[in-house]
Amino acid sequence: VNKQNILPDGWAPSDLVYIQNGFMLRAEAAQAWNAMMQAAAQDGITINAVSAYRTQAYQTNLYNQYYAQDPINTPFLSALPRRSEHEMGLALDVNYGDYQLHSDLESTATGRWLAAHAQDYGWILRYPSNKTSITQYAYEAWHYRYVGTNLARQLKSSGQTLDEYYQ
Ligand code: DAL
Ligand code: ZN
Repeated sequence: VNKQNILPDGWAPSDLVYIQNGFMLRAEAAQAWNAMMQAAAQDGITINAVSAYRTQAYQTNLYNQYYAQDPINTPFLSALPRRSEHEMGLALDVNYGDYQLHSDLESTATGRWLAAHAQDYGWILRYPSNKTSITQYAYEAWHYRYVGTNLARQLKSSGQTLDEYYQ
């Protein structure tokens, strides 16, 4: 999904499973996340989930909260309901072990580990700093999208966003 490709009203994934911290992802993404987190841990790196699957109602509330604070920037910071990858159960917001989102994540040990290895577990950095005009979202150092290993490696080496790939 993106701002043009929208989930049907009421649709929810049928194979959600629990991951870390009480969050949920679709089964294949959950397995890939667990594998990635364990591999990072073996390298002494903490990757911590701070958001994963969101219901339509949750995304609606979240968007409205952003909008109440900052209506002008909200469209670049939060997806409208039915347009968020979090509603697909295929997106994950990560940090290095607290409760915050960090825009400097890429320059931390965790961010550097993800830049080197995420594609080998099927994950891509979905809203990079140099592609905001294409993704139509502000840079999100923390938001990873599961696309499977083959496509993740391909997008990593080509530098394409998922939006460009599907166009
Ligand atoms: N912050 C991202 C774009 C979302 O709401 O899905
Ligand atoms: Zn996110």
